[in-house]
Amino acid sequence: MKNWILLASIGLAFASCESADEWSVQSPDGAIEVEVELSEAGEITYAVEFNGEEVIADSKLGFDFANADDFLEGFELYSKEEKSINEPYQMQWGPNTELVAEHNELVLNFIQPANGRILGVAFRAANDGYAFRYLIPSQDEGALVVANERSEFNLTEDAAAHWIPGDWEIYEHPYNHTKTSEIDALSKANHPNLASTHIVENSVSTPVTFVYENGTHMSIHEAALVNYSGMTLLKTGDYSFVSSLVGREDGNKATIPTPFKTPWRMAIIGNEATDLLASHLMYDLNEPNVMGDISEWFQPQKYVGIWWEMHMGKSTWDYGMTQDMGTWIQDGKEHGKHGATNENTRRYIDFAAEHGFSGVLVEGWNTGWEHWIGFDDREGVFDFVTEYPDYDLDELQKYAQSKGVSLVMHHETSAAPRTYEQQMDTAYALMQANDIHLVKSGYVGPLLPKGEYHHGQWMVNHYNNAVLKAYDYQVAVNTHEPIKGTGLERTWPNWVGREGARGQEFNAWSIEGGNYVDHIPTMAFTRFLSGPMDYTPGVFKLETKSGPEGSNRVRSTIGQQFGLYLVVPSPIQMACDLPENYEAHPEWLQFIKDVAVDWETSIPVAGEVGQFVAWARTPKNSDSWYIGAANAEGARDLSIALDFLDEGKTYEATIYRDADDADWKTNPYAVTIETITLSSAEELKVRLASGGGFGAILHPITE
Ligand code: NOJ
Ligand code: CA
Repeated sequence: MKNWILLASIGLAFASCESADEWSVQSPDGAIEVEVELSEAGEITYAVEFNGEEVIADSKLGFDFANADDFLEGFELYSKEEKSINEPYQMQWGPNTELVAEHNELVLNFIQPANGRILGVAFRAANDGYAFRYLIPSQDEGALVVANERSEFNLTEDAAAHWIPGDWEIYEHPYNHTKTSEIDALSKANHPNLASTHIVENSVSTPVTFVYENGTHMSIHEAALVNYSGMTLLKTGDYSFVSSLVGREDGNKATIPTPFKTPWRMAIIGNEATDLLASHLMYDLNEPNVMGDISEWFQPQKYVGIWWEMHMGKSTWDYGMTQDMGTWIQDGKEHGKHGATNENTRRYIDFAAEHGFSGVLVEGWNTGWEHWIGFDDREGVFDFVTEYPDYDLDELQKYAQSKGVSLVMHHETSAAPRTYEQQMDTAYALMQANDIHLVKSGYVGPLLPKGEYHHGQWMVNHYNNAVLKAYDYQVAVNTHEPIKGTGLERTWPNWVGREGARGQEFNAWSIEGGNYVDHIPTMAFTRFLSGPMDYTPGVFKLETKSGPEGSNRVRSTIGQQFGLYLVVPSPIQMACDLPENYEAHPEWLQFIKDVAVDWETSIPVAGEVGQFVAWARTPKNSDSWYIGAANAEGARDLSIALDFLDEGKTYEATIYRDADDADWKTNPYAVTIETITLSSAEELKVRLASGGGFGAILHPITE
């Protein structure tokens, strides 16, 4: 802001210097400063400096309403409050379980004197970024119909952008790397692999990550998305954006009760890529845990399942028969490829028990799969309690429990959430009665009712309510085709997983022949910033199906499949491949058996957006460490300083890495497993193959 630059240049840059229409708040370390001012027209604008340089230029704030005067201009300051926040808190599970929110907050209440209406904006400055949210008092109209929110994010240069389109229906797009000015979301419309997709304008989904010329990294996202529509960022200039909420049939974006607090709009800002990963700003901005300790019935876990075999075309979700008045007719239509049979499920349960997996997901166990995708009339098709005739839920769960394993429930709604809502109580009660505490839910297809979208307010409320309802029955939820993560798992720790990006499944059948080789090192700095992802790692047979591009495959080495267990954040990790593919490689399977999943502390140790990423994590109540990495195209030597290890201790490190001649294209199966000793004074040196990675397990051997 010009006056500030002027003041600084004449040596008057003391922090409390605010003119009548200018206010500012600084992060505790002083590196980030949010400056707010009113324009001559009484528009609220803010700008952000990082290390003394502007990274967000003057950006306006406000709303268009359909049933009330807009909140766009004519404002004067009404009142102001400032406070410092220092709030230690615990996460039930997560990359880090002990965190501290340290923010400085500035709340400015603005008034439109012409009509006496007030709009509050709370600004936060933290060492890892900034945030703001709107505080809307009670209105005469009662509820406000939001035609759109107008929160601008004007970058200060044509930064490198890492983005997916602002699709109202799905996040499962390949990531794009372009200059900000070259973002072209509409060119991504109608991707043939997406059962539903709706891109209406040149906007991007969040988190979206930008890298400035001088190395500043910034990722824009939102926190605490409750009773509101998901935010996309619409391009308004070469490198400027305005919030554009996901809409609905009447053309408006949301209806909010008043008083109302919007979700936080936030950006993580740092000097380097790993600063984005170390941030916990999103969790800081969410409300504390309201469910208490849920560990009595949910623990972080690894699971296997009847899943990959359907994506690989080996078996089917559907049973193939027809039903007449509740009776399954043996009319010869049973095609014999049904995956969720008693026999097959027992095989997976036996495999899980033998190798120490806690859960067995079974998809295709309930009726409805004959009519789930590609139909308009999907209401009333799935009922979440009726088994196919070759599947006995009670017996199988008893069998699983006798072996120390539990089934993981599956509820595919085929994007007919009203049908699901009618049956949620019954469905979750069935789970509780069978002592099953984890459900994977799914929302494949164009959303019903027509005119609502997966990422709009109506569905945000559905997803959130499903999680709250599940809690009543001691059920933890892993949502596929979800609304993006905004840190609500701090408040509702039973929201343990989510998809919300291209998962491993695309390696089986996508038209691109599989996810691109930079997919994981890109998601590490974009999608993964929004919380856990159920990516379903652990493929040991990399060739998948033949697709339009020829042969589809997983574009990684086996070494990277190990690395995924450390790089993909999630308290539930699948070992997704078929039992026979694991049994063919017991020495590799050992890594998946041994890797931990319930972390106390996680440290991002290396990475560049879209190139590579490495994490070190230590589990709860343990002195061991686990380190893993994933690499994009081009081999690379990593040296990881081990200063996080306990000084004076020697660790035995078992490293599952790419062999020296490994390469995702030519030699992806070349793995070297070696055991060495390491200490905190040393570096772990590992070569990552092109498309490679590694996983390492470090146990202390001396006190
Ligand atoms: C899409 C999910 O992402 C996938 O994991 C699941 O197998 C199918 N839907 C069927 O529910
Ligand atoms: Ca999916």
